Amino acid sequence: MRTINVGVIGVGAMGYNHARVYSKLENANLVAVADVVKPTLDKVVKKYKTKGYSEIEDLLKDPEIEAVSVCVPTTFHHEVVMEAIKHGKHVLVEKPIAFTAEEAEEMIEAAKEAGVKLATGHVERFNPAVQKAKELIENEVIGDLVTISAKRVGPFPPRIKDVGVAIDLAIHDLDVMNFLIEAPVKQVYATMSSILDQSDFEDHAEIMISFDEDITGILEVNWLTPYKRRQIEITGTDGIITIDYIDQC
Ligand SMILES: NC(=O)c1ccc[n+]([C@@H]2O[C@H](COP(=O)([O-])OP(=O)(O)OC[C@H]3O[C@@H](n4cnc5c(N)ncnc54)[C@H](O)[C@@H]3O)[C@@H](O)[C@H]2O)c1
Repeated sequence: MRTINVGVIGVGAMGYNHARVYSKLENANLVAVADVVKPTLDKVVKKYKTKGYSEIEDLLKDPEIEAVSVCVPTTFHHEVVMEAIKHGKHVLVEKPIAFTAEEAEEMIEAAKEAGVKLATGHVERFNPAVQKAKELIENEVIGDLVTISAKRVGPFPPRIKDVGVAIDLAIHDLDVMNFLIEAPVKQVYATMSSILDQSDFEDHAEIMISFDEDITGILEVNWLTPYKRRQIEITGTDGIITIDYIDQC
């Protein structure tokens, strides 16, 4: 496999991780990073000895870079990804793909037209425990799927100011459900509201998804629970799989 020259746009909490991992990967060469906040940029440039750009445009014009990670806050995903696609870069955008479904569709269409790859950073499907569950389901160890019930709760993260908990957290388990169930969604029912003063968007959501083949997804997410819990339980006609995403088992 050949080495890919990559750049990271937005090197806050998550972008820092992308830069860290790229710098260790054999098949990736971290060429440059970009961030609008100078001290954030300088820290990563110094740590990983890369080029640093304060303007995204300058990173995107860098001919050495073939692919970029977009790790800016969610409400900027559309703008930055569309710009990256215009510059012919392949894109790995952090989850959720965009702030609205319309923005996401536009991004997917633009990537297709430009002939570049566009991927979203849905990490949980690569969690070894989820991979194992997939294997057990495919080998029919737990029979036919009946329900998948997920809980992703914890305290409010002051860093996330631009979206609510449904788009920020529920997206992880929705992706895992899609990955494990592989059946079209028929119907969705959800309740949500904002209780905390510091949250401008919903801080709790309870979602029920009816998939084809009579499989039901149940999902509870919030930024209200004082401790962090991330778990999923998969019920089949012949068995149950319980996963703790944090312990990866
Ligand atoms: N996969 C996961 O589990 C996971 C976990 C946390 C965050 N995320 C996602 O990562 C994204 C970033 O979240 P975060 O927690 O790292 O946020 P953050 O605020 O810590 O970092 C965002 C960075 O982007 C920079 N930035 C903002 N606008 C910019 C622009 N126009 N150009 C260049 N830089 C810009 C900011 O200065 C900041 O350094 C979000 O979409 C979030 O949903 C994913």
